[in-house]
Amino acid sequence: MTKHARLDSVPIPFIDVAAQRRRLGRAIDEAIARVTAHCQFLGGPEVETFEQRLAAFCGARHAVSCASGTDALLLVLMARGIGRGDAVICPSFTFCATAEVVALTGATPVFADVDTETFNLNAASFERAVATARRQGLKPKAVIPVDLFGLPADHGPIAAVAKAEKLYVLDDAAQAFGATYKGRKLGTLASATATSFFPAKPLGCYGDGGAVLTDDAELVTALKSLRVHGQGSDKYDNVRIGMTSRLDTIQAAVLIEKLKIFADEIAARDEVARRYGEGLREVATVPAVPAGMTSVWAQYTIRLEPGLRAGLATALKGQGIPTAIYYPKPLHQQAAYRLFPVADGGLPVSERLAAEVISLPMHAYLDAATQDRVIGAVRSALGAT
Ligand SMILES: Cc1ncc(COP(=O)(O)O)c(C=O)c1O
Repeated sequence: MTKHARLDSVPIPFIDVAAQRRRLGRAIDEAIARVTAHCQFLGGPEVETFEQRLAAFCGARHAVSCASGTDALLLVLMARGIGRGDAVICPSFTFCATAEVVALTGATPVFADVDTETFNLNAASFERAVATARRQGLKPKAVIPVDLFGLPADHGPIAAVAKAEKLYVLDDAAQAFGATYKGRKLGTLASATATSFFPAKPLGCYGDGGAVLTDDAELVTALKSLRVHGQGSDKYDNVRIGMTSRLDTIQAAVLIEKLKIFADEIAARDEVARRYGEGLREVATVPAVPAGMTSVWAQYTIRLEPGLRAGLATALKGQGIPTAIYYPKPLHQQAAYRLFPVADGGLPVSERLAAEVISLPMHAYLDAATQDRVIGAVRSALGAT
């Protein structure tokens, strides 16, 4: 094997969290050291500073931090009093947390289909899911559109259906904080928006974390109570059934530093996506960003004719290039969710996508040479000349 060939198969990470850590270096160390010096590990001053900066970043009036993206979704449903007998419409092609939180409240997730090009909730299927829910004797109360892989859902038509059906819109932007829809950042497009700071997310922390963005002051009061056991005037005055779900001060301190470079990182991800798109559109269906939207590229997910995916993954693995399948099975086919209703007409797009999608390495620190290596490997595995 030549030296060149060996270099060409050095394994690359799928998401390089360490590269960002190196860039932020001392700033993160010092931010953490400030917390370990003042010892307010929960509710320290960094938490409020971060909440204010997060809200300002997206243009929402308020941000309420909590312990995870899952909790951010759950806390909003709890604050809305959603429970047994209620239906909440969710796309089936998403991470399980979107529907899991609905089931945790005792309500019923009703699955709708997604669009082939964007992987996001299809407004017509959403409307059919509302009818399905009513026919089954459920009370439709809310919809959770997901901004999958970093791309906003089509919030205009979704909001129109929600308004006509009198449903609350809770946006699941766990993968897409920082993305824009018609000039507005996610966090301002729904009555409430949940996001996640899981380390691999575009804006990730060094553990678990999440937040709700909203303009609704009453919701903020309820969320702040719910995240500390339903507290009232103080911790030992319990006015609601709540839970423990706070963002640790250390995580807030890390996120304050990360937010400073976030816009720059989004631009870098966009450039990787642009180059991938140019290099791969001839051999695969590359992700499309509809006019008026921007993506933060949580994943770069291509589509292949059924049957080609396993061969591509094996060929890339042999060259040290990892891939991932998000998601191999839509939620309505998962053991835990398959008894919940699906929209009339079924969910053919979600089922087809689960067999066609494959995600490539994507992060803000993927240099041009590594991008070219990925592009070259995909092209040659798919038989391009
Ligand atoms: C679409 C979606 N919703 C919700 C979540 C839940 O976020 P967390 O892992 O922070 O609980 C995630 C991420 O994992 C996600 O991708």
